[in-house]
Amino acid sequence: MRIYCAKDYYHASRVAANIISAQVIMKPDCVLGLATGATPVGTYEQLVRWYEKGDLDFASVHSVNLDEYRGLSAEDEQSYRYFMNSHLFDHINIDKKNTYVPDGMEPDAAKACSAYDEIIRSLGGIDLQILGLGHNGHIGFNEPGSAFEKETHCVRLSRSTIEANARFFDSIDRVPREAYTMGIKSIMQARKVVVIVCGESKREIVRRAFFGAITPEVPASVLQLHNDVILVGDEAALADCL
Ligand code: F6R
Repeated sequence: MRIYCAKDYYHASRVAANIISAQVIMKPDCVLGLATGATPVGTYEQLVRWYEKGDLDFASVHSVNLDEYRGLSAEDEQSYRYFMNSHLFDHINIDKKNTYVPDGMEPDAAKACSAYDEIIRSLGGIDLQILGLGHNGHIGFNEPGSAFEKETHCVRLSRSTIEANARFFDSIDRVPREAYTMGIKSIMQARKVVVIVCGESKREIVRRAFFGAITPEVPASVLQLHNDVILVGDEAALADCL
C-alpha cells in the first residue's frame, strides 16, 4: 500500500484527482469506480476544473458507482445518481449512457444486483476504484460483519450509517433503510483502489482498517490484501499512520 499524506482536504483532493487524471490519460476508455459522500466532493471539483482547462477528456470513460439507496429515483436529490450528476457528470464530457449506478427503483433486489454485476463484467471490470471510508470501517455500504465474498447485493444499513448519513436528509426518518451496494469481492476485483480519508474523525478507523487485524468486523481491512491500494489523506486522518 502506498500512502500520500497531504496537509489538508484541498490538497488531498488534488492528489486523488491527480491519480484519476493519470488513469484517464493513460487509458482514455478506462472504467472508473466512483463513490459518493462528503469525501470525494473536492476530488470531483478538481477534476471538473482540469476538464474545464482542457486537460482532461472523459468522452470514452465508463463509470460504475459503488452504491445506491433502495427506493430512491435518479430525480431524488438524495439519490446517489443525483449526487453524481450534480457533482461530476453534468460538468464534464462523459456520456451519461456510459455512467452506471445501481437501479434504486428496481424493487426486485436480486434482479437489480445481478444486472449490476453483469454491467461490471461486460465492461471488463474496474480499472480504478475510488473509495471513502465509513466511521465503522464500511466501504460502499458493506457494513461490519459483511462477507468478503459478496458481489452486488442488498443491505440493511446499520444504525451508525443511518445516523452518519442523516446530515444529508431533512430528518433521520427520511434516510432509506436499505441500499444496493457492490460487495467486497466486486471492490477487491478492481485493478487499482484509491481510498480517500480526511479529517480527525477518521483517524481511529484509518488506523484500525489499514494497520489492524484483517476482519469482516472492519470491512475496509480486507484492502490490506489488495496488491494495488493507494491511501490518500490529510494529516488529521493519517496522523497514526506516518
Ligand atoms: C459512498 C459510500 C460510502 C462512503 C462512506 C464515507 O458511495 O459508499 O462508503 O464512502 O460512508 O462517507 P463520507 O465521505 O461522507 O465520510
